[in-house]
Amino acid sequence: MYRLLALASGRGSNFLAILNAIESGEIPNAKMVGLITDRENTGAEEHAKKYQVPVKVIPFKNYPTKDDFYQDLLLAAKSFEPDLILGAGFMRILPPEFIRSFPDRIMNIHPSLLPAFPGMNAQKQAYEYGVKVSGCTVHFMDEGVDTGPIILQKAVEIPEGSSVEEITQLILKEEHQLYIKAIKLFCENKLVIEYNTSKTRKIVRIKSS
Ligand code: GRF
Repeated sequence: MYRLLALASGRGSNFLAILNAIESGEIPNAKMVGLITDRENTGAEEHAKKYQVPVKVIPFKNYPTKDDFYQDLLLAAKSFEPDLILGAGFMRILPPEFIRSFPDRIMNIHPSLLPAFPGMNAQKQAYEYGVKVSGCTVHFMDEGVDTGPIILQKAVEIPEGSSVEEITQLILKEEHQLYIKAIKLFCENKLVIEYNTSKTRKIVRIKSS
C-alpha cells in the first residue's frame, strides 16, 4: 500500500476526487493516511472527516515566523511516513528543506499547461493573455514555483466569450481526472525521472508496462 498524504488550504475538490477514487478502487494500492491544512475549517478538512482521514491543522497565522511554521509542517509531514505527498490546493511555496526531505515524492496539480502561467491565478492569467487553449498539469515539485518535472497534462479549449470563472470550472473538471491518473501511475511504479539530453532539467518518462 502506498501511503498518501495531502496538503490543502481550501475547498479540497481535488482531495475529494482522490478520496473517491481510492474508495471506488480506482487507485487500488493506495491509502490516504493524512491531511495537513494551514488554516482551520477548510472544505478539505470536512472531506477528510467524512472519510475518517486523520487531519493536522497547522494554522499559519498563529506562527511568529515562516520558519517556525515550516518546521512544524515538516515534522507533521514526516510523522505520517508518506510515500507520496500531494499538493491539493496548498497555497504556500514549500521551502527547499521540505522538498529535499521527500525527493521526487511530492506531486502538485496546477491549472495551466506549464510552463505557461505558473504561480497564482493561472486561469486569470490565461484569460488576460487571451489564449484559446489552456489546461492543467500534474508535476513533481522541485524548489522552483511550478517548475518541477511534468507528469501529465490535459489541454482544455476555451470557448469564445468564457469568463475566468467558466475557464476555472472547465479546467477543474479535468484536474480531478488527471490527478488520479498521475497518482495511479506513481502507485504502479510507472514514473521514471531522468535528466533530459542537455542535462538542464529532470523530465518524467512513463513506463508502458
Ligand atoms: C486547483 O485549481 C488546483 O489546480 C490549484 O488550486 C486549486 C485547488 O482547488 N493548485 P481545490 O481545493 O482542489 O478545489
